[in-house]
Amino acid sequence: MINKEIKEIINKAVKDLYRDIEIPDFVVEWPQDKDFGDYASNVAMVLAGKLNKDPMEIAEEIKNILRQAQDDKQQIQDNNNVMVSLSNHQDDINKSLFSEMTVEKPGFINFKISDQILRKNLCKILKRKCKFGSSEIGKDKTVVIDYSAPNIAKPMHIGHLRSTIIGQSLYNIYKFLGYKVIGDNHLGDWGTQFGKLIYAYKNWGNKKEINKNPIKEMTKLYIRFHKEAEKDKDLEEAARKETKRLQDKDIENLKIWKFLVKESLKDFKKIYKVLNIKFDYTLGESFYDDMLENVVKEGFDKKIAIKSEGAVIINLDEYNLAPLLIRKSDDAYLYATTDLAAIKYRKEKFKPDKILYVIANEQEFYLQQLFASARLFGLSKNIKIEHIKFGMVLGKTGKKFSTRKGETVELNDLLNKAIKLSQKTVEEKNPKLSKKEKKKIAKIVGLGAIKYNDLSQNRMTDVSFNWDKMLSFEGNSAPYLQYTYARINSLNEKYKKTHKLNRINILNKPDFGLLVDKTEKDIMRQLIKFPEAVENAARENSPHFIALYIYELASLYNNFYNSAPILKSEKNIAKARIYLSKSVAIIIKNGLNLLGIDTLKKM
Ligand code: ARG
Repeated sequence: MINKEIKEIINKAVKDLYRDIEIPDFVVEWPQDKDFGDYASNVAMVLAGKLNKDPMEIAEEIKNILRQAQDDKQQIQDNNNVMVSLSNHQDDINKSLFSEMTVEKPGFINFKISDQILRKNLCKILKRKCKFGSSEIGKDKTVVIDYSAPNIAKPMHIGHLRSTIIGQSLYNIYKFLGYKVIGDNHLGDWGTQFGKLIYAYKNWGNKKEINKNPIKEMTKLYIRFHKEAEKDKDLEEAARKETKRLQDKDIENLKIWKFLVKESLKDFKKIYKVLNIKFDYTLGESFYDDMLENVVKEGFDKKIAIKSEGAVIINLDEYNLAPLLIRKSDDAYLYATTDLAAIKYRKEKFKPDKILYVIANEQEFYLQQLFASARLFGLSKNIKIEHIKFGMVLGKTGKKFSTRKGETVELNDLLNKAIKLSQKTVEEKNPKLSKKEKKKIAKIVGLGAIKYNDLSQNRMTDVSFNWDKMLSFEGNSAPYLQYTYARINSLNEKYKKTHKLNRINILNKPDFGLLVDKTEKDIMRQLIKFPEAVENAARENSPHFIALYIYELASLYNNFYNSAPILKSEKNIAKARIYLSKSVAIIIKNGLNLLGIDTLKKM
């Protein structure tokens, strides 16, 4: 990773220059304005206070010593070169990292990566292909990711969709970085809502209708329960009794519950299949039921839990948080009790280094309480437990996303709509394709559009659903990226055909020295940063770093594509350009795959 290499080099230089100084934390990052260079560091500025010196002066000193070191290295390499000039490992030997270093006010040092390194990177991409950008930084580390987690007997809603898409992408990213990843779907399959559902089922349920369309009917019944409970105060109590009966494993209630779980899962699995979502575990809240008593007991033993008006709470004064309720006065356990049991279970079973909760912003306060309680229980020692929060989904008008009737949006309808709309575009763009092909493309494009719309924005902000923008073949959208990929692929196919090649293979030795145009260099400069984009996404648990990165890459590529002939240029230049294009395709595909989005060879 180039940014890390630069950081190391700077560290060494600073140590050589200002002996005994303790180096404060500094960054090596991508400058906003690429004209300044590929990387910029603020090291001189953070040292200024310590050295009591003008940062511009420090920057010059560091720059000079770095240049000196590089020149020395070049000298040695040149000498070696004479000895091995007949070998064709030129690229390996000429390793100077920078082609240019400049100092910029108020004390930045800017670096431009040398052409040799950029060319070498192209070879690396073409060799490693789908592995390029992957690493071993997560070796021997385990991450548990809690995502999706819809609730039984209710339709999965758009908030769950966000959790599902973001969670799966994080899963892919961590895996790519060598982590052991455990995806757990913490289904809402237990709790007080089941008392209400069971009450409604028993008293008002039309079995025939329910069997025909279980979740829809149950949702209706659930809404009815709340309406009637407003009028009839006894209903809540009756529902509580049903919940208790379920928890006490009453046969009839258990049977109704099992039916609801089975039917809901059927629906959820359909959506997971369409979206290609996978979990290692689907434990769900019910799984922890018989551990809940122990949570409370342990709370008492550890003197964290206290009784309060018949209920049991965890006092969180020391964290400036409201107390967390873990048992109600009627002895019922809660969502929170289950989550505490789940942390304990995950800790013991998976020995994770990290647990990520991909849950909407709305639960932020609750999760703070949960994590603080876990700390008091001693559950989070050596485990990083994090809330990966995200914003709401808004409609085009900026209001919370809902249907005209004000009901929540059915995800299935939403996914189908995306596919249908993209089918229309495919039809327009490519009327000659077979029906089957069109369908396949429409599916990949439509679902890609939904995923990309979510993942290309900072997850903390609300996302809006604007179909035109999402499905557009221009601008920052999945179809644009998929189209760029397909375009490169057809270019490569043509090249292979004319040259009777089976594959665009690096062993055919393209001469990347022929790539000298600015548009080509810009692409090469972007390509070298892919591993960093992946790492940024993991560090911030934000897939949008990858989305932003690929969008920029695709834009640079299209600039090049529109300004330079590829197949029609001189033979060797054409070859170099084809291999450059191939590298871009590899990275677009890698990036999109990390977002859970498929690519198409033809569109
Ligand atoms: N089922 C919950 C909901 O729909 C989300 C669960 C998230 N995971 C957790 N461990 N609490 O709001």
